[in-house]
Amino acid sequence: MYPINLEGKKGIIFGVANQRSIAWAIAQTLHQAGAELAFTYQGPRLKEGVARLVQPWGDAPLMECDVTQDGHISRVFEELRERFGSLSFVVHSVAFADREEMAGNFYDTSRQGFHTAMEVSAYSLIPIAKHASDLMASGGSIITLTFTMQLVYPGYNIMGTAKAALEQEVRHLAAELGPRGVRVNALSSGPLDTLAARGLHRFVDLKHIHAERAPLKRNITHEEVAAAALFLLSDMASGITGAILPVDGGYHIMGV
Ligand SMILES: NC(=O)c1ccc[n+]([C@@H]2O[C@H](COP(=O)([O-])OP(=O)(O)OC[C@H]3O[C@@H](n4cnc5c(N)ncnc54)[C@H](O)[C@@H]3O)[C@@H](O)[C@H]2O)c1
Repeated sequence: MYPINLEGKKGIIFGVANQRSIAWAIAQTLHQAGAELAFTYQGPRLKEGVARLVQPWGDAPLMECDVTQDGHISRVFEELRERFGSLSFVVHSVAFADREEMAGNFYDTSRQGFHTAMEVSAYSLIPIAKHASDLMASGGSIITLTFTMQLVYPGYNIMGTAKAALEQEVRHLAAELGPRGVRVNALSSGPLDTLAARGLHRFVDLKHIHAERAPLKRNITHEEVAAAALFLLSDMASGITGAILPVDGGYHIMGV
């Protein structure tokens, strides 16, 4: 049991694809802390796997949500209103870019590749925050996952642009939703082996470089990101909004 208690809090997690997903590590930690959770899955291909993961937790709501579909997003929150009544937090752990956009030069990014990455990885936070905040009459906490901290990673290409947009959205949403007691923050995670990370051509190099250069001299773990998520979603972080919190072993401070 974690020292932070989320009993009585209800939240939704977007972005579980399998047991390696950062969203799944966060879900397990929040569950252990006593939170009541709802989940979404991207589409029929992932439904069975995600259902199998959440099955031991009884009747946790599990809903399809392709974030490119406005109707899916609004349906999710309608169902949440019926099932939960109100909402305490949201975990947005969703990103996508076409594989070929990550393979070559950034200056070869296609118009469609740009559009897809921005729509899924950045835009999606906006309607989710809007719908979620409508269910947060007593305040709430929204987190998303980012990576770049304004650095250039060869091969991260359009995803770096999408993360820059996402990080600015965090600040803008934090400013607009703050007066309603809704906090919006991001965790900037170091590299972790997941389905999305496997799409990066130089992911293994990236991991090695992080472990070598980070002050902690190692890669971070899923559990460390999940623990930071637990903190940001809890009342312990009641004074924190608009922040991008690095969970990267300190990599972001190093010049070389
Ligand atoms: N793995 C890393 O090294 C790392 C580091 C920093 C940040 N992140 C970020 O963490 C988040 C989670 O990624 P992950 O590494 O756990 O990989 P993952 O593949 O497990 O999760 C990505 C999720 O995005 C979902 N998704 C993609 N397109 C979607 C769509 N159209 N509609 C709904 N859902 C969609 C996938 O179904 C999946 O659940 C992403 O934002 C990623 O950029 C990952």
